[in-house]
Formats: sequence, C-alpha cells, structure tokens
Amino acid sequence: MAAPIRAPRGTQDRLPESAAAWARAETAAADLASSYGFDRIDTPLFERTELFVRGLGEASDAVSKEMFLVGGAAGSDEETPAWALRPEPTAGIVRAYLEHGLQVRPGPLRVWLLGPMFRYDRPQAGRYRQFTQWDVEVIGDPGPSVDAELIELATRYCARLGIGGVQVHLNSIGDEQCRPAYRAALVEYFSAHRDRLSPDGRRRLDANPLRVLDDRTLDPALAAGAPRSVDHLCAACTEHWLAVTGFLDRLGVAYQLDHRLVRGLDYYTRTTFELFAPGREGSQDALAGGGRYDGLVETLGGPSTPGIGFGLGMDRVIMAMSRSGVPGEPAPALVVVVGTQPNDHAERLVIAASLRDQGLRVRPDGSDRKLGRQLESAAKLGARWAVIVGEELTRGAVMLKDLADGTQREIGLHAVAAEIRDASRGPN
Ligand code: HAM
Repeated sequence: MAAPIRAPRGTQDRLPESAAAWARAETAAADLASSYGFDRIDTPLFERTELFVRGLGEASDAVSKEMFLVGGAAGSDEETPAWALRPEPTAGIVRAYLEHGLQVRPGPLRVWLLGPMFRYDRPQAGRYRQFTQWDVEVIGDPGPSVDAELIELATRYCARLGIGGVQVHLNSIGDEQCRPAYRAALVEYFSAHRDRLSPDGRRRLDANPLRVLDDRTLDPALAAGAPRSVDHLCAACTEHWLAVTGFLDRLGVAYQLDHRLVRGLDYYTRTTFELFAPGREGSQDALAGGGRYDGLVETLGGPSTPGIGFGLGMDRVIMAMSRSGVPGEPAPALVVVVGTQPNDHAERLVIAASLRDQGLRVRPDGSDRKLGRQLESAAKLGARWAVIVGEELTRGAVMLKDLADGTQREIGLHAVAAEIRDASRGPN
C-alpha cells in the first residue's frame, strides 16, 4: 500500500467539528464590519512579488524570510513569473484601490476582507504557514477619530465573541518628518550597547533600527532605557497622538502605551496597535495588529493618501474562543428521512427536497438497511428528527419521530415542516 500523503507543515485541516466556531467568528466579523459601514472586498491570493517588496519593505521578515513564491504552470516554457502568495492583504487592497480608481468614489473607502494569508515561517502553535485574517481597512481618512474607531471595533469584536482579558497595546511611531531623528536616537543608543544585542538585533540595527525594539530576545533593561518614539514626535504627530488617546478615553477603550510596538511591516506611520489575549502558558501572541499607513498608497504609485487598518488572526481567535469556553454557532436541528422499503428512495429524495424548500436541514438515508438501523444511524449523526416514509404515504402522511424523546406519530406531509419548526422553537 502506498504511504498516505500528509498535509504540508504549518497548515491545518478545518474539520467539520470546528465549523461551528468558525461560523460564529466569521459571522460576527461580517456583521460588525457591516454595522460600522464597511463593504466586503476580495483580492487574489497571489500578487506580483514586487507589490509586497515595495509595500511591506524589502527588510521586513514577511518579505525577506517568509515570502511564499509561486512558480509558473507545470510543463510551460514560460520564465517563472514573479508571483508570491499574499503574506497580508493590505498591499493587495491598496493595489486594487489604485487599479480600479476607487479614490474617485465618495470616500473614505471602508472595506473588509476575510481569507487565507501565507507566510513561510517556522510553524508552531498559533503560527502557521497558511492562516486566516479578518482585515479591515480605511483608505483616504487622515484620522485621528477613525484611528480610535478602528481600535474600538477590534476590541468590540473580541467582546462580542466572549474572549476575555484582551489588552490593547498602543504607540505612535511618527511620520517621515520626525522618524529620522527618532531613528538616529535609537541607532546612537543601541550602537553603544551593540554587544548586548542578539545577532538578529544587530542585523536589525543595520537594516531597520526601529525593529530592534520588537526583537523578542532584547534584554528588557536595555529596552526600558531606549528612546521612546512618543518623545520624538513632531507637532503634527503629537497632536494626532493626543487626539487618538483622547478619543479612546471617551469611548471607554482601555489601552496601554507600548514603546516597543513598532510593527513588523515597513508601511506604518503614526498610530500602531496590537491586541493580546491571555494565551497558553502566558504566551504573548497578538490576536490582532494594525496601524496607520499614510505613505503606502504613494509608495505603490498613487497620489498621497492616508490609510489605516488592522488584521485579526482568526486561527488565534478560534483558539481564544475555545480557551474562554465560547460555544460555536449552533446549527439548525437535523432531520433525517428514512424509509421502510428498499424501493422508496425516490420518495425519500422528494420529501427531503420539499422539507429543505421549507427551510429545514435535511439528509436522506440512502441505504437499504432495516428501519431500526437507519434510525440508529440518524441518532448517531446527532439528528433531532426522523421522517419515516412507509405505508402512511398512501394517505399523504409519514411517521415523524422525535429522536430526543423517542415518541412518534403519524402526520400529514404538508404539516411536517411546521411541526418541526414549532417544536424546535420550544414551549415559549
Ligand atoms: P500582522 O501583525 O502581520 O499585520 O498580522 C495580523 C494578525 O495576523 C496577527 O496579529 C496574528 O493574529 C495573525 N497572524 C500573523 N501571522 C500569523 C501566522 N503565521 N499564523 C497565524 N496567525 C498569524 C498585518 O498583516 C497587517 N496587514 C495588518 C494591517 C492591516 N495593518 C494595516 N492594515
């Protein structure tokens, strides 16, 4: 026998038993985005590699280490096209914004996207090579009120799903006016302590000094003494920062300043934020991360346009829901149509189709087994009702069996759906 083929490392099969939790998380995302006036957008799973190199920055981990490159068609002579699976959706959404001239629509553009992302990272719990993000973006709004609105939206989402203990970390990393001086201050500080940096920290110091701060292995004492970006903001960024924190206070959203929150992608300006939920053994994986990207549209060839958004890791949300004991979206009661005769399959199919037309969730038993066996299977499937097709059909009736209490009675076919719906609604 040939050896079975296993799924690629860092991917997950979403088995049917996890469907209810995913349905709850995805429905809440869609409902909430709609209630904040966002429309759905979807972009391709792969884009030209150059989009990510320009958008996220050549030195970012997502581009320099984790890019999932896509080859051309099997057997074709074409040169390998320069495509990559998307590591994140923001660059693709901005590309679509420019490609379709969305900037001429009455703005700002408010869109959301839910789908798989790909990063060729080292797989571990909560870190996958294929994962799902709920992404929310606002393009063309300079803020600062929308900054607070989005942070509040992300916290409301967690609250709606019943995920407790979520903390918001907040920072401002300035803009092209004030960041050079801040970067210089960091370089001066960390250069004086170069020997205390990890090899990766030293590499970051040379390539992108802000990212020394989010090296997880950075000595906390060294980090605590580092210059803070909020102390180096220009007047305009200071005003923006104070307004964002003021709006969050008014909205009652608690947050903590996190001077090390510089984010891993190069497009960020001003506001940056992440949401954390208490994890396994105190692990500190972010549930969500985002911020302002006022230079990204221009970097990708468009006019100077502000933007802000966040991405929420849905796989981590599902894990947090399970840790918090949040149940999934309950599925409607299942009805199984069984039969007493081996030659009544056409009737079972027709009755099942008619019950589905009336809004029920129905699967017919396609076997010729004895009735008792069919009923046993229905109960094992978790069905609540069995519609038994038998000799009553000559009178336009069937037997309806309540698999919860074992009672059954004859009922006219026309009345089955209403009976099931009423009973499923309960005594009130
Ligand atoms: P990010 O912080 O790279 O930001 O990712 C956002 C979220 O996606 C993370 O907080 C995490 O929950 C989840 N995530 C990231 N990588 C993985 C992984 N390997 N496995 C499982 N979950 C993961 C962005 O992607 C930005 N595009 C967010 C944004 C939107 N900024 C502005 N607009």
